Amino acid sequence: MSIARGELRKFVSPEILYGHGARHLAGPYARRIGMARALVVTDPGVEAAGWVTPLLTSLAGNGVEAVVFDDVQPNPVAEQVMRGAALFAESRCDSIVALGGGSPLDCAEGIGVVATNGGHVLDYEGVDMVEAPMPPLVCIPTTAGTGADVSQFAIITDPVRRAKIALVSKSLVPDLALVDPEPLTTMDPALTAATGMDALAHSIEAYLSNASWALTDELALAAMRLIVENLPRCVASGEDLEARAQMALASLDAGLAFSNASLGAVHALAHALGGLLNAPHGECNALLLGPVMRRTLRDTPRARIDSIAEALGVDVGARPAEDVAAWLTEFPAAIGMTTTLAQYGLTPDTVDDLAANAEADACAATNPWDVTSDELVRILRDAIA
Ligand SMILES: [Fe+2]
Repeated sequence: MSIARGELRKFVSPEILYGHGARHLAGPYARRIGMARALVVTDPGVEAAGWVTPLLTSLAGNGVEAVVFDDVQPNPVAEQVMRGAALFAESRCDSIVALGGGSPLDCAEGIGVVATNGGHVLDYEGVDMVEAPMPPLVCIPTTAGTGADVSQFAIITDPVRRAKIALVSKSLVPDLALVDPEPLTTMDPALTAATGMDALAHSIEAYLSNASWALTDELALAAMRLIVENLPRCVASGEDLEARAQMALASLDAGLAFSNASLGAVHALAHALGGLLNAPHGECNALLLGPVMRRTLRDTPRARIDSIAEALGVDVGARPAEDVAAWLTEFPAAIGMTTTLAQYGLTPDTVDDLAANAEADACAATNPWDVTSDELVRILRDAIA
């Protein structure tokens, strides 16, 4: 439920440069803020797609040396962050440029935290645990949806606990996000759909979060409108630069909304599922959004359900909560997503561990209903039935 208008609130955001060619401003910006030697954090897929070389050229052309760290896997684990932090220190870097999807961007934020605060990245789990600011950080997203380029969240996997942990701090907000639609064109339809569903989950959970307010509401609803219109176009035609630009904007809107309003049970469960079964984050959200919203919307005020339905273009009848939840359950299939929770290894025997981890997740705190593992188990059992 949104707080009353006029109540004291804060909103954090990086400087954002959005639009065609934004990525080429990495070098000039890096020079302007005095970067001399940047750790470039990326992954092999982004390198293979050809996006790293132009970045290095832009940095070199502006007198900024670069050290490339590309040892980042999907759902980055803590040891990768620590290897990146060691390379940052050994190479005497003074700044970070992150290029990629959510995994390189989150990994870069973890590296930045360790670079200036010392210790181990897992020491900073939780809210407001990071004291010293990170080195200057520029983020260039190559997917549309994670919001890691603008958010104050970094999600890192602890393989010992088989859990994803959240670092939440204003110190994690990048200095600059260069949001350029062109790198999005090399995403295949499956990655396009999954990352787009992550953005949809961000917008809906931020809108329904008990920390939402007028500014985050506007951004969340704007994201929903853009996603429903443009995500199917991007999946159908990856080269559609106009639709890609609109999804880049949707990702920004949803990312700023959730960075400032936080999330809920969908993401609490998605983090648990990613940590336990290494399932891709966007796929988890796509599979969980409908089942969780069936529960959440049951208690949501009618006016807010109507706002979501209007933004998504859902015609509601006498049971609007059910109609919106049904639409959210069907939308992933409409954009070609066919996976199931069972395919990721979720069974009735594993739902208890998953629910316990989700109950402890930072995103559970802002869910509009009290998250208990019993209720999560019920939702999961229904979802895999
Ligand atoms: Fe997410």
